[in-house]
Amino acid sequence: MFEVLSNEALTPVLHRMVIRAPRVAAVRKPGQFVIIRAAEGEERIPLTIADADAEAGTITLFIQAVGASTRFIVSVPVGGSLRDVAGPLGMPTHIEKWGRVACVGGGVGTAVLYPLAKALAQAGNDVTTIIGGRSASLIILKDELASFSKQLLVTTEDGSMGRKGFVTMELSDMMADPATCPQAVFAIGPVPMMRAVAELTRPQAIPTIVSLNPIMIDGTGMCGGCRVLVDGETRFACVNGPEFDAHKVDFANLIDRLGTYREHEAASAECRLK
Ligand code: FES
Repeated sequence: MFEVLSNEALTPVLHRMVIRAPRVAAVRKPGQFVIIRAAEGEERIPLTIADADAEAGTITLFIQAVGASTRFIVSVPVGGSLRDVAGPLGMPTHIEKWGRVACVGGGVGTAVLYPLAKALAQAGNDVTTIIGGRSASLIILKDELASFSKQLLVTTEDGSMGRKGFVTMELSDMMADPATCPQAVFAIGPVPMMRAVAELTRPQAIPTIVSLNPIMIDGTGMCGGCRVLVDGETRFACVNGPEFDAHKVDFANLIDRLGTYREHEAASAECRLK
């Protein structure tokens, strides 16, 4: 059993949980994830490890409670425990010194971006972090990201914080000036956002990495739900990723796959509410 040490609601649907998991905390690397099962018989949910403290033996997870199983996980109170925390899984992010990098996060993807951006800054990169969301109440980790970013830019669709518009507008401005144009771009967020970033950086061939966490289901390589075409070849986000070269991902195919389980998820949530 894995004790829940803190459980904080950052927004109405996003929770930050700190969990005691010493063996995971000791060896995890940025980009890796764990599979959580809140109780016997519950669904297995893959979640990126946002942070870890090897000395304290804890890991931090950000959980977007949008489905029946994620709502169940965030309902576990401090002092309660989760049945299984398996990991770390997935390939660690390849961290190197690129020079100037842009880290782009959309919505809850910002939580997944956090450990990656931190590792890039620790490797000596000049990190410009661009985060966006629909409105100010959905902007997360602003202060945490600002603590190691050379520059932090915020966009909101309704203009309630930062620049009104989309993260791609800030990235486009950065790319337009040779003095600020990034040598690499990392983007994590809604698939349409990652696709827009990939199309923006493609003409200038700026190395661009995206994380395909959103399409994982059981995270074990067995369900096939995270199948994605990368450079024309079938890959599994949970085994071969979750990070891939954005310019090689078939986003049209990916968007199609994401809709596959929507009806089942809605039915499952409805069932639990009865
Ligand atoms: Fe099931 Fe990857 S999430 S095979």
